[in-house]
Amino acid sequence: MRTHRAPIAIVVFLAGILPTACQQSGGDQILPTAAAAVDAGSGGECLSGDESLAATMTGGRKTFRFDTFGDEAFWGGQLRLHEAIAGEANGGVGPGLSPNQALALGLKVDAEALPPELIDQIEAGEVDLDDPAVTLALLQLNAVVGVTGFFDDAGAINGVGIQCALCHSTVDDSFAPGIGARLDGWANRDLDVGAIVATAPTVLPFARLLGVDQRTVRTVLRSWGPGKFDAELMLDGKAFRPDGKSAATLIPPAFGLAGVNLHTSTGWGSVTYWNAFVANLPMHGEGSFFDPRLDDPKKFPIAAANGFGHIQRDEDEDRVTPKLAALHVYQLSLEAPVPPEGSFDVEAAERGDALFEGKAKCSGCHVPPLYTEPGWNLHTPAEMGVDGFQARRSPENRYRTTPLKGLFSHTKGGFFHDGRFATLLDVVNHYNDHFALGLTERQKRDVVEYLKSL
Ligand code: HEC
Ligand code: HEC
Repeated sequence: MRTHRAPIAIVVFLAGILPTACQQSGGDQILPTAAAAVDAGSGGECLSGDESLAATMTGGRKTFRFDTFGDEAFWGGQLRLHEAIAGEANGGVGPGLSPNQALALGLKVDAEALPPELIDQIEAGEVDLDDPAVTLALLQLNAVVGVTGFFDDAGAINGVGIQCALCHSTVDDSFAPGIGARLDGWANRDLDVGAIVATAPTVLPFARLLGVDQRTVRTVLRSWGPGKFDAELMLDGKAFRPDGKSAATLIPPAFGLAGVNLHTSTGWGSVTYWNAFVANLPMHGEGSFFDPRLDDPKKFPIAAANGFGHIQRDEDEDRVTPKLAALHVYQLSLEAPVPPEGSFDVEAAERGDALFEGKAKCSGCHVPPLYTEPGWNLHTPAEMGVDGFQARRSPENRYRTTPLKGLFSHTKGGFFHDGRFATLLDVVNHYNDHFALGLTERQKRDVVEYLKSL
């Protein structure tokens, strides 16, 4: 497949030579991450510790925002998703995906990638946001957050790939709803991943893997709804909970994770464990991944049968592993955003703070300022007073104490791993009953205001 984005090829090429090209001279720590060094344009020269860290951060951000890890071979090559985006009029199939439809499905547009003339034209109402050709133009500008279009020399789209930013970034809506500056690490709770994937001309690869027909695959994808994704479906084939509800979980934020042990709601491993997992398995990037826990045929029948815990590529074909270090550093640098002024009652929040650490006993698990346990931060479903369906889909059979900073940024879709509690008051009511805390109605509201202040 031809690409219009040479930098990926360059990064892969340089990955092999850069780390050895820089000889450490001074006492400064060098982080010789190839992608980072390429971004900083160092050409392999030695960087000071600060420069090296900055270069690593820039490289990690680039990976987070723009790197498909070669997953276009799946989303474009196998599912032909780009054909559904283009539509028949533009060489694809079906009606195509207009910008307005894309925005309605929760896709976001990076206003900073739009040239000033285009901004003027959009403001003057001269751009037809119901025309799929405009979506293709936005992809060509690399303006659709988390989605990369690949185009041939004649300008026709011939592939599409996805990035971390698809689910873990949104925009600040500064230009229009869904169009603005990027907010890396924020959970995109508007994004209907399943509905988008279900538009693909074929979902046969999923059907084969899961041993069902394509209709069933599309039904499952459409059952997820906005802000949700099922990262474990292709490991265990469980699409629905015993109560018939979707098995998908909420997209969590990717900020505020520094210092936090264990990641995802069920604690699979560290941030970098999960990055390797998600880039190789759910995203279908082309890398290497090792986890013999997936060999358990009872728990992970599909992963075990397909050897998902033993994916090995030659060093020069591995498009994930060389990016992990810088990606990890960048993610840990993403701090939770501070709640806007006036978004909570300050005095009530102060009373709530005292309750959080006192009568409500929250800080026994949510230890400030991390708001998770320093150390082993997993709890059994029984301890939490919730069912164990999702916990049992992970190796540890437990739920991880969620770090709570920046809660205000992801209230849409509800709380706990599957959004079962619609509001923070519902969460507090659950704890009040389960732990028999005896909070008054006013105390519950104070705790909620405190949560909104984090
Ligand atoms: C299609 C949507 C999607 C994409 C793309 C995606 N993620 Fe996620 N991510 C999720 C969902 C859903 C979860 C929660 C999984 C769970 O709890 O089982 C998650 C969990 C995480 C977590 C754990 C957060 C926590 O609270 O501990 C991290 C870290 C993360 N993703 C990073 C990444 C990175 C890095 C990439 C790109 C390599 C990426 N994700 C790509 C949807 C996505
Ligand atoms: C026994 C340990 C423990 C205690 C005590 C505890 N929590 Fe939690 N908390 C957790 C775990 C584990 C989760 C993740 C549950 C899930 O995702 O299913 C969680 C999740 C949450 C969430 C949801 C976060 C999100 O992003 O969805 C909120 C809010 C919360 N807790 C607030 C509180 C408050 C307020 C208290 C005190 C009244 C409290 N917690 C007491 C362990 C605890």
